[in-house]
Amino acid sequence: MPPVTADKVMEKLVSLAKRRGFVFQSSEIYGGLGSVWDYGPLGVELKKNIKERWWRSMVHERDDIEGLDAAILMHPKVWEASGHVAGFTDPLVDCKQCKNRFRADDPRIKGTPGQPDAQCPVCGSKGTLTAPRQFNLMFKTFMGPVEEQAAVIYMRPETAQGIYVNYLNVLQSSRQKIPFGIAQVGKAFRNEITPGNFIFRTREFEQMEMQFFVKPGSETEWFEFWRGERMKWVEGLGIRSAKLRWHQHDKNELAHYAKDAYDIQYEFPFGWQEFEGIHNRTDFDLSNHQKHAGKKLDYLDPKTSERFIPYVVETSAGADRTTLVVLCDAYTEEEVRAEEGAEGGGDQRVVLKLKPSLAPLKAAVFPLVNKDGMPELAHRIHDDLRRHFNVFYDDGGSIGRRYRRQDEAGTPFGITIDGQSTQDQTVTVRDRDTLKQDRVATAKLVEYLTQKLAG
Ligand code: GAP
Repeated sequence: MPPVTADKVMEKLVSLAKRRGFVFQSSEIYGGLGSVWDYGPLGVELKKNIKERWWRSMVHERDDIEGLDAAILMHPKVWEASGHVAGFTDPLVDCKQCKNRFRADDPRIKGTPGQPDAQCPVCGSKGTLTAPRQFNLMFKTFMGPVEEQAAVIYMRPETAQGIYVNYLNVLQSSRQKIPFGIAQVGKAFRNEITPGNFIFRTREFEQMEMQFFVKPGSETEWFEFWRGERMKWVEGLGIRSAKLRWHQHDKNELAHYAKDAYDIQYEFPFGWQEFEGIHNRTDFDLSNHQKHAGKKLDYLDPKTSERFIPYVVETSAGADRTTLVVLCDAYTEEEVRAEEGAEGGGDQRVVLKLKPSLAPLKAAVFPLVNKDGMPELAHRIHDDLRRHFNVFYDDGGSIGRRYRRQDEAGTPFGITIDGQSTQDQTVTVRDRDTLKQDRVATAKLVEYLTQKLAG
């Protein structure tokens, strides 16, 4: 099969995601809501597996990180202190003719916005683009029954601030000592002006963030430590390392809070883009909260009796973007060779080669035909396995079609109950990637799958 061209891959992936129930456009029956997506039955499992893997490695497997689940709505002063009210902006221009709005650095704009030579990329009018104005990306809403300025609050644009404002609560209740971290997974919202590329840049998304509080002077060492740890974790998702690279922010790219920042980038079909960042946020956030809240946030080192505001090394990953990385990396179109057994040669298939431990469904159970005791045995096996794994029962259509559906879902194992099974209590287990089939005793199935799903 010829290689799939880059621009077609996203189209195919979006279509597979819908067909198999990974991701749907939000409010689709109303024509959709711009850059907001819903996760279907398989998508919710895949994203949950990624989030759980992150939580396990960041919280459960470490003694020095605590978990937190802070509210999305926070005191409006938080966003003044954090610099988001003043600094979380994009420069925008409006077309006075067609009323469209663009980022000032939109490469489609010809000429200088605000000047007579500037041309609108949508309606083509000249001289109708306004000079750039700063546009805040935070969503506003109102708290309480009155819609007035005093009641304005924001939907959090990052989860990190919930960690900073709870830093003392967690420190005191957990009896941690610096260096230690706080981890959180949760929704964030940004009124992005140029959203797109499916679930890559959306207006509502989930972050997996960890803030590591360290003694000033030790942040560079910890920054390097966390860079190493995070890349190891990403590679552990089964992502091809040739598709991963680091990108260090230059001065113009650094966020208002960061002194140094590295992105982990993936080569998406639409190019190299970030999906996780490691940031040296210094004492920027805690110092500002101390000032704005009028509450002391310094730390008393019990060993040296020194007082200091901790520095913060942040690891910030997008759960949706990481899900997109995993989907893009797993998406494969291939020809099934003749020697690969019963499935025949010259056949083409689409398969999501997800790491088995990330796959939404771990196995599918198929009675070869719906008679001769096969459905009864298949149901028994399904009931037994579902106590251990997320498994699926499918008796619809030819076995070949059932395999293909599960290939597209990324299900690593297909368990077929055939004529021999009712005689000797064995089944065939088909491997999604190699298409090899093992004959396994039903009594050994849980052990067999547990071993294959490890890692
Ligand atoms: N607390 C630091 C912070 O929020 P960021 O680089 O703005 O840093 C971190 O965001 C991660 O959050 C990104 O690497 C990306 O994975 C995810 N993210 C940010 N904006 C997003 C959006 N509009 N849609 C989907 N994911 C987004």
